[in-house]
Amino acid sequence: MTERDFVLNGDFEYPESGVVAWKAPSNIALVKYWGKKPNQIPANPSISFTLDACATTTSIEFSKLSEKSNTFSFDLFFEGKPKEDFKPKINTFFERIEKYVPFLKEYHFTIKTSNSFPHSSGIASSASGMAALALCLMTIEKRINPSLEDSYFKKKASFLSRLGSGSACRSIQGDLIQWGNYDAISESSNLLGVKYPFKVHPVFKNYHDTILLVHKGQKTVSSTVGHDLMHNHPFAKQRFAQAHLNLDRLKTIFEEGNLDNFVEVVESEALTLHAMMMTSLPYFMLMKPNTLEIINRIWEFRQKSKTHVCFTLDAGANVHVLYPESEKQEVFQFIQDELVVFCENGHYICDRIGNGAKEMRIKNNN
Ligand code: DP6
Repeated sequence: MTERDFVLNGDFEYPESGVVAWKAPSNIALVKYWGKKPNQIPANPSISFTLDACATTTSIEFSKLSEKSNTFSFDLFFEGKPKEDFKPKINTFFERIEKYVPFLKEYHFTIKTSNSFPHSSGIASSASGMAALALCLMTIEKRINPSLEDSYFKKKASFLSRLGSGSACRSIQGDLIQWGNYDAISESSNLLGVKYPFKVHPVFKNYHDTILLVHKGQKTVSSTVGHDLMHNHPFAKQRFAQAHLNLDRLKTIFEEGNLDNFVEVVESEALTLHAMMMTSLPYFMLMKPNTLEIINRIWEFRQKSKTHVCFTLDAGANVHVLYPESEKQEVFQFIQDELVVFCENGHYICDRIGNGAKEMRIKNNN
């Protein structure tokens, strides 16, 4: 599909008002997206587990303006309170997507959003937040154009959310989502996330992700700045090539269920991501001493216990501890006994691989 396929064209009658709502999950990348070209085009393909518990719920009430506005008209409430400082991000998102959803200036929107995880947990809500928002807009589009098909709906939701935050395009569906042009997957696209189409061994169903909240403060360097530093990065070319090779390796791993190899690819990807940060100019570091403590304990325990617990990291200090369902008792005990002590205020979140976003029922829906 091309960008043009996502423009809403036609003579439609716009509904006067209504309310829509979606709950969209977060996701954790196994092969990381780090580096992008203009228009939110990724420099390399990535793949992620969709999560289940970490999610954003967003509702939009829309009411038709008496005449089309020159600016975007919306109010924003976060966890029940007006939130002015989120507005510029949404305004930028609306600017980027306006040519695909031309009804944006026809309505006043009241956007209400909340996260299942604490705001100050250091967990980025941009993926789940942008995915939930894009899905709400797609439901409004569907009210305008009821003939819209389900598969197009999901594709366009992923396409739109990517323009809000790249990784958001992997938060529409579950449970394993690939984004970015990649030779082995013919339907892969730089424009949107697709469901991983090949065989996946049952060991990867129900995979667990316990998120250890090492540092809840603001990140010192945003993902946007980090992506930008991949331009002229001395190792960028090799890194982008490596992402393709790691996807190739994962294909065999997913097919055969080889967890030793899974651990190797996933941990190498996490450390490469942070190595890219540490070798950017200016260089920076988002891991904290407790991130390293946790990594070392995981390595020791894995050797001792012969389990397949491993870690991955996103662009921050928190550690995602991944393990299969069959090892959950042993690994969870280990997390409680040895790792929780490294979390800020002992806080962590138990999550697992999930099935994607869900539409929420709203009373007095019109
Ligand atoms: C390290 O999707 O947050 O989590 O497109 O600028 O919004 P923007 O970046 P974002 O980057 C996520 C980077 C990552 C890796 C990943 O999720 O693949």
